[in-house]
Amino acid sequence: MMKNIASFGVLLISLTLTGQELFLQNAYNRIATSLNGEWNYIVDPYENGFYDYRYEPFENAESVSKNAFFTNSKPTDKTDLIEYDFDKAPLIKVPGDWNTQKEKLYYYEGTVWYKKSFDYTKAHDSNRVFVYFGAANYEVDIYLNGEKLGKHVGGFTPFQFEVSPLLREKDNFLIVKVDNKRKREAVPTLNTDWWNYGGLTRDVKLIETPGTYINDYFIQLKKDDNRLITGYLELNGDDVSNKKITLEIPELKLKKELLTNVEGKALLEIKTKKIQYWSPENPKLYEVLLRTDGETLQDHIGFRTINTEGKYILLNGEPTFLRGICLHEESPNEGGGRANSQEEARKLLGWAKELGCNFVRLAHYPHNEYIIREADKMGIMVWEEDPVYWTIDWENEATYRNAENQLSEVIHRDKNRASVIIWSMANETPTSGARNEFLGSLAEHARQMDPTRLISAALEISRYEGNPTTLTISDSYADVVDVLSFNQYIGWYVGTPELAQRITWKITQDKPVIISEFGAGAKYGFHGDALTRWSEEYQADLYKETLKMIDKIEKLQGVTPWILKDFRSPRRLLNGIQDDYNRKGLISDKGEKKQAFFVLQDYYQKKPWKMSNNFPK
Ligand code: GCU
Repeated sequence: MMKNIASFGVLLISLTLTGQELFLQNAYNRIATSLNGEWNYIVDPYENGFYDYRYEPFENAESVSKNAFFTNSKPTDKTDLIEYDFDKAPLIKVPGDWNTQKEKLYYYEGTVWYKKSFDYTKAHDSNRVFVYFGAANYEVDIYLNGEKLGKHVGGFTPFQFEVSPLLREKDNFLIVKVDNKRKREAVPTLNTDWWNYGGLTRDVKLIETPGTYINDYFIQLKKDDNRLITGYLELNGDDVSNKKITLEIPELKLKKELLTNVEGKALLEIKTKKIQYWSPENPKLYEVLLRTDGETLQDHIGFRTINTEGKYILLNGEPTFLRGICLHEESPNEGGGRANSQEEARKLLGWAKELGCNFVRLAHYPHNEYIIREADKMGIMVWEEDPVYWTIDWENEATYRNAENQLSEVIHRDKNRASVIIWSMANETPTSGARNEFLGSLAEHARQMDPTRLISAALEISRYEGNPTTLTISDSYADVVDVLSFNQYIGWYVGTPELAQRITWKITQDKPVIISEFGAGAKYGFHGDALTRWSEEYQADLYKETLKMIDKIEKLQGVTPWILKDFRSPRRLLNGIQDDYNRKGLISDKGEKKQAFFVLQDYYQKKPWKMSNNFPK
């Protein structure tokens, strides 16, 4: 299905899938004008602002009708018929989902139009301006001053469009059609165990650059040489060839001048002796400065290597146990909804630290950049996942391109982040030829884009030779991944917690093992004996039994129980207990810690994460 070419070259090919250039690197630190705040919105379930009554898209017409919402038309006189008016429409906050902001939109899945008006004066006439979105769920059409900028598909990764030719000093209007309808061929597909929050869920900003600017760079240690910083830098603009870019790491007294080739690209190799490696106990980030005549770009990058050897995961060459927890991108604050700020990221990771974690599995889609940047600073290793969840439309070429593009976008955004150690291709997907080819191509694509990190996926368990109490991984995808991860719910979906005592594991693959999910539901404050479902005691007992059981797995190198905090799900409808929440959190939706929180905390206190004592030197 998928053609492959030399590694960094692939990055260039995957740029154009959604009709837009992959966004510029390090938008996080670029000079920008925020468009966050109150936007006008119009709820349009019949997409009346996009299609005419023949259900033909207005934008395809020779002359675009004023009925098209993206024209933001106003009556020109009292006889004029215009049946929408953004400036009379209500307001909604961006970033944010619409479901938790507007009661009437709690269950809404469909189209909502957003409009933001703004004035803008460029610092220099020759500069370029891009409108950048941290993410928007799920499918968006973007217009500026009545002109189409483009489209983006996928609810959890950034995208940008250049607006320089359309931008004016006064009264710009940016209009975004956001549609979060679920579709069979989409990624994720129709069925998920999380709430389908819709909207402009992350930051929106205008980024101004010089005419020729530093568009992309990849600066990391070579996978198998922790004394060699490698990667590339790339300019974008009309005049990119034979240009000087200076890379400087002041603290390491490193300064390197690079010259771009005809495509504006410069490959990088720098030997370094006295580098402090990034790790949970010393999350060292170096200030990195990239300079051209026109700009200076600052970033903070940690340097570490991550590898596997047999059953070990080696961080900076040291066998390391991943003491983890799973989390969804839900606000830690009461009311939930999509998280999208530094404060929320710190609170969520603060709870993980309190548990004793050095690792988090961000499920089941790329989370916002704040949590990645905070993980870099806090020394928490990260698993990021492409939202290939459950039963995707494997044979559909467009579905594959969509999945690959979302993967490209998250790798592109976070490839310079030391905290990110694992790219996960999928969660709980049924084995089949088409699925194996689909996921096989995704892994190949990820390895080509980023040869420095580990590949995994959350697989499902099976019985060993039909024996109900001997469990194994017979999924052939286990041969593709670097780290063998699987979800298991012994004691919740299978039996009761005591069953764990009678389970043995037959893991034949010579790879590090991570239990990527286990857990039980509990309603905070509901108490009973350890066999009473939904009680804190049942959940705590399941944790005790499961942790004992998995400690017997010889190749176990990490675990990420399901899940840090109760989260909203349209599949959880048990009144009085679930009430739209998956209750497998160790913390309730109101921030209250359940008994099991302390069971896991205690286990991590006793579980060393440095495993060198039994690693053959
Ligand atoms: C699954 C799945 C999660 C889900 C969890 C559960 O394994 O990966 O997305 O929420 O189990 O059932 O609670």
